[in-house]
Amino acid sequence: MSTEQEKYKDIRIEKPQGKLGVLLPGLGAVSTTFIAGVMAIRRGLAQPTGSLTQMNHIRLGRRDENRNPLIKELVPLSGLDDLYFAAWDIFEDNAYEAAVKAGVLEDIHLQPLKEELEQIKPMPAVFSKDYVKKLDGTYVKKAADKYEYMQMLREDIRNFKEKNGLDRLVMIWAASTEVYIKPGEVHRSKAAFEQAMKDNHPDIAPSMLYAWAAIAEGVPYANGSPNLSADIPAMYEFAEEMNVPLAGKDFKTGQTLMKTILAPGLKARMLGIEGWFSTNILGNRDGEVLDDPDSFKTKEESKLSVLEQILQPDLYPNLYADLYHKVRINYYPPRRDNKEGWDNIDIFGWMNYPMQIKVDFLCRDSILAAPIVLDLVLFMDLAARAGFKGIQEWLSFYFKSPIHAPNLYPEHDLFIQLMKLKNTLRILAGEKEITHLGLDYYI
Ligand SMILES: NC(=O)c1ccc[n+]([C@@H]2O[C@H](COP(=O)([O-])OP(=O)(O)OC[C@H]3O[C@@H](n4cnc5c(N)ncnc54)[C@H](O)[C@@H]3O)[C@@H](O)[C@H]2O)c1
Repeated sequence: MSTEQEKYKDIRIEKPQGKLGVLLPGLGAVSTTFIAGVMAIRRGLAQPTGSLTQMNHIRLGRRDENRNPLIKELVPLSGLDDLYFAAWDIFEDNAYEAAVKAGVLEDIHLQPLKEELEQIKPMPAVFSKDYVKKLDGTYVKKAADKYEYMQMLREDIRNFKEKNGLDRLVMIWAASTEVYIKPGEVHRSKAAFEQAMKDNHPDIAPSMLYAWAAIAEGVPYANGSPNLSADIPAMYEFAEEMNVPLAGKDFKTGQTLMKTILAPGLKARMLGIEGWFSTNILGNRDGEVLDDPDSFKTKEESKLSVLEQILQPDLYPNLYADLYHKVRINYYPPRRDNKEGWDNIDIFGWMNYPMQIKVDFLCRDSILAAPIVLDLVLFMDLAARAGFKGIQEWLSFYFKSPIHAPNLYPEHDLFIQLMKLKNTLRILAGEKEITHLGLDYYI
């Protein structure tokens, strides 16, 4: 038995009995593509492409044992038929209307799901234009202070659970990117945060109120946007106290996904990189929000840190210390949700001879994000049943800026993240982790 196996040998994961409620702040492109996809898969109209929980096999034991179950056969995950959806938005459109406006899925795929999608009507949001400058919310709650707003969200959560006879809940933030906020005094402890909500402090953003309400109700919370939300010490403290798992930030799709696939490969071959220029055009509501410099700054911080950590310029100054990294996002309405991302990578090899790599990714952002939402729902629920609490680093695989323990650096390399995720699942199932050492040719 390995040390890790020994440490977790007494974990007993409760079977996922009954219904699992999925709470989504934000009923936009990502949320509606996720919900419609789950509905289509349930009816046998689509396959869950891109989802590890639904499609990925996992090797167990030695290679000569030929044990490769599906992940969903190895660990007890909720079935798709047991998922129930609720959302908040600042617009009153139901999930069908919102999906049509988002323009991700074609009419031919939405029509068969129309009635079911129309049943999902958003709850009024907690919103302030101070945090998303490009949007004007009309369908919003009214309260005296931020503490009261947070209490109203708690009430929404309890009502959804009671009305639908749900057993467990998970919340995934898929609302617009908020302006950049620096972690400050009011985020430092649970007590300071609670006081700041009552004082209507400007450093408390709506996404934080959703996260706080989720934790207070014992609901696992994952943040798909780059804004801080739960990534502050006050939330870590509260989540530990309430035994609630936390994850985030910013779904790893599109250009950053490509970056975290390519950069580890170039580094593995000890090839130098002089410059990496990334530019995007996109025309959906997310693109419009990111047209505001303050919201873009939040996204930029999230996108820039990736290369620095993967390439370790402090260890390899001759290869990466002078790397010039630039990221641009341009709002271009005709593209709608179909983003185009260009990367120009100036690399150098033997005797510093220069070479160039060009990537032109005609990407569909929400098509890449939807399976991430599904996996997070199922894995966050698994984490809660396994008794995991606080930051869930093993889910870093899904994020551009993974939340990490304050004394550690985040891991961005997609392949290390995948190994961490799979080894966590192996340990949860009482199996030995796989190191790929293979010294006796079989291990
Ligand atoms: N699409 C992707 O692949 C991807 C990848 C990484 C991160 N993200 C992030 O996920 C989020 C959602 O992306 P999207 O493409 O669905 O955007 P979207 O603009 O289509 O949807 C966001 C929705 O959130 C609503 N909203 C804004 N503030 C709210 C609040 N306080 N409470 C409730 N609802 C609120 C908006 O009205 C909108 O309907 C964005 O922050 C985006 O940056 C998306």
